[in-house]
Amino acid sequence: MKKKSDFLVIGSGVAGLSFAIKAAKHGTVSVLSKNDLEETNTKYAQGGIAAVMSPPDSFKKHIRDTISVGDGLCDEEIVEMVIRDAPERIKELVSWGVDFDHNKDGSYDLAREGGHSEHRILHYKDITGKEIQEALISKVRSDPNIKIFDNYFAIDLLTQHHHGKLVLRSHTDTECYGAYVLNMSSGKTETFLSKITIVATGGIGNLYNITTNPLVATGDGLAMVYRAKGIINNMEFVQFHPTSLYNPGERPSFLITEALRGFGAVLKNTAGEKLMNKYDSRGSLAPRDIVARAIDSEMKSRGDDFVYLDGTHLNSDELKAHFPNIYEKCFNEGIDITKDMIPVVPAAHYLCGGVKVDKNGRSSINRLYAIGEVAHTGLHGANRLASNSLMEAVVFAHRAAVHSVRQMKNFTFNEKIPEWNYEGTKHPEEMVLITQNYKEMQQIMTNYVGIVRSDLRLERAMKRLEIIYQETEKLYKKSTLSRKLCELRNLINVGYLVIKMAQSLHESRGLHYTLDYPKKKRSTEF
Ligand code: FAD
Ligand code: SIN
Repeated sequence: MKKKSDFLVIGSGVAGLSFAIKAAKHGTVSVLSKNDLEETNTKYAQGGIAAVMSPPDSFKKHIRDTISVGDGLCDEEIVEMVIRDAPERIKELVSWGVDFDHNKDGSYDLAREGGHSEHRILHYKDITGKEIQEALISKVRSDPNIKIFDNYFAIDLLTQHHHGKLVLRSHTDTECYGAYVLNMSSGKTETFLSKITIVATGGIGNLYNITTNPLVATGDGLAMVYRAKGIINNMEFVQFHPTSLYNPGERPSFLITEALRGFGAVLKNTAGEKLMNKYDSRGSLAPRDIVARAIDSEMKSRGDDFVYLDGTHLNSDELKAHFPNIYEKCFNEGIDITKDMIPVVPAAHYLCGGVKVDKNGRSSINRLYAIGEVAHTGLHGANRLASNSLMEAVVFAHRAAVHSVRQMKNFTFNEKIPEWNYEGTKHPEEMVLITQNYKEMQQIMTNYVGIVRSDLRLERAMKRLEIIYQETEKLYKKSTLSRKLCELRNLINVGYLVIKMAQSLHESRGLHYTLDYPKKKRSTEF
């Protein structure tokens, strides 16, 4: 029995849910989440959401900071559009019940992070993402037009290919009719038909073996769009956050927000020396790519496993009040951040590239939109300014809703799509075939395609990944579907795109640094 709704939203983070709330005013909405609704990258966001709220800040300054960090690859029209719309979207979040911290005089308590020339980060303590996620969930749960399918795993997007037509990446008439989705309680694959499909599946952090991203971040949406022959861009720009708590074995790695550096904490090497001064005049608040590379280089040259973030000189009451979550977590790990330095390491954090979309979030496939971290809008260029991603997600969710609501009326459900074919598949006998390949893939990506790359490392990574790809495809064809197998397959696909795009870039720019071409080369056109 096929499930039908006007809008199919794949993902329950800030992008998917804020879209759903808007679309539900105009039609029926199905929201899919492969876990429970809460488990998203959004929930883990700490620092906050950037927006220009009052002088001395200005749109001009935020635009300048975003473009400067983007290192020549931002689409300036998109930057301006997003930044000017952000304050309106903040008001909307507040009207939906999101609380941001205020000063005693009633103004917003704005934080500052790396690359920002002003204090402009709205936050709720150091758990901004949780605050946003919870407010959006209670809103979607109370909307009768929204049906929630949690523990439903989207496998593939439906296009003309599924009723026997050839679909190529060069075609401009490819359409999306919904998705095949694994119901993880029944083990059955169900057909979800829609007039409009939204991919809001978040990031790819689990491509690497140290990441701040929760286990759900496995690039499924990207791989689905790629297999459906959509266009994907800028995959070489993977952002590593400089400061995750050094706590071997913990997954995801616990983030130590950049706002702590904005508050005055300083990076030091294990000898207690301030480490950023020799790398950048902005010190510990230089943009992330520079700080992460500096830490990587310091750790490698000294043979250390971590560096320190030192906040012991800061007012301890204020530190605890502003960062209660970090204080508590570190305290439970035996670190009192008011007295002890925090051991930190860089961790895979955010993907700047993704599904290429236009200013309304439309992908290259008709009836298919991509919003949030999975999308490449042109806002971030070669590096993302801290706290610009929650902002991008809400702005594009809004634009995609406005646009797709108008479009939706022109479409009908495609009844020609057949149900999933289970023929010739059986349960994989050994899960180790999947888990071992997952680990190997993470090792390959971490060691060869991490913060510092080279032609030789990329070539090796591609060769090794090819072997894992062949093995996994063979297994996939004869296995009944499981989340783990699909995630592995998707991550291999994403890894391939990261390597391929990194290989095509004969220069270092933003987040992509290669020993063979250490300088910027090409013109800075988007
Ligand atoms: P997510 O919030 O990740 O949601 C993805 C959803 O897709 C989930 O519901 C998941 O279940 C679902 N999904 C995925 N695959 C499938 C599938 N196959 N089938 C069904 N469902 C699927 N950004 C900022 O701007 N400010 C910050 O302070 C900040 N701090 C961060 C801190 C951490 C620790 C992390 C990890 C990220 C942070 N970011 C921050 C980045 C930001 O949180 C994310 O970019 C943003 O939340 C992504 O939102 P999203 O809606 O696109 O995806
Ligand atoms: C942080 O709080 O440091 C993360 C902010 C971000 O990723 O935008």
